[in-house]
Amino acid sequence: MKLIDLHCHILPGVDDGAKDRPMALEMARAAVDQDISHILLTPHHMDGHYTNHKIDVIKNTGAFQQDLIDNDIPLKVFPGQEVHLTGDLLKAIFDDDILFMDSGNRYLLLEFPHNEVPEYAENMIFELTSRGVTPVLAHPERNQGFQKDPDRLYSFVEMGCLAQLTSSSYLGVFGKDVQTLTEKIIKANLGFVFASDAHNFKGRRFMMREAFDKLTEQHGAATAERFNQNAKNILNGDDVEIGDIKRISELKKKKFFGLF
Ligand SMILES: [Fe+2]
Repeated sequence: MKLIDLHCHILPGVDDGAKDRPMALEMARAAVDQDISHILLTPHHMDGHYTNHKIDVIKNTGAFQQDLIDNDIPLKVFPGQEVHLTGDLLKAIFDDDILFMDSGNRYLLLEFPHNEVPEYAENMIFELTSRGVTPVLAHPERNQGFQKDPDRLYSFVEMGCLAQLTSSSYLGVFGKDVQTLTEKIIKANLGFVFASDAHNFKGRRFMMREAFDKLTEQHGAATAERFNQNAKNILNGDDVEIGDIKRISELKKKKFFGLF
């Protein structure tokens, strides 16, 4: 199975991901080694540190794709942004400075501030969904607001959001608590895709193949295929099916048999 990565900081020299072209090409080779065939390039957009206007990302993506071709690296890349939630988001959409995950402007990779789910998030989600936009929440398992109250994720999915889990979260790179929450989100059917959020070769690597192997082991091949198909559907602007979602607080506790 060839994998699709919808969240990745490999575009060189534009944020805290790949520093330069040689590093970006090396990361691209690492992605291909993981069987990744398509990557949505998602530099940080207006997160307080980086700007990455739409027009610049499109230009840089074209140049990077040519670099990949020139270096015989079989990877197809698309322009995107990791869109940070701010009060200016609707204006940025109106100003045509936002890149969606698909060319039809349906799916939006949306990152909340790491330490909270802001008060105005629900209102913003309503504004987006009423315009036909489906927010794909970037790594909710790493957000302190969802960590404190995981059932809020259920409410956001009910409101029309999807959720993108980070492959390395599932493998424990961000610690046991993040790993456990990722596992619960998957069990509750509130996780829809894996993406790498790869930044470098140290902590924040691709680890997509390992995550898919673990998903296959824990939930079966059909679930792993569904995750990858969901990523394809998002990239193509097609429907993503919402299954039987549960609140994390409603998940059954593990039962221990045979103790007495
Ligand atoms: Fe990211």
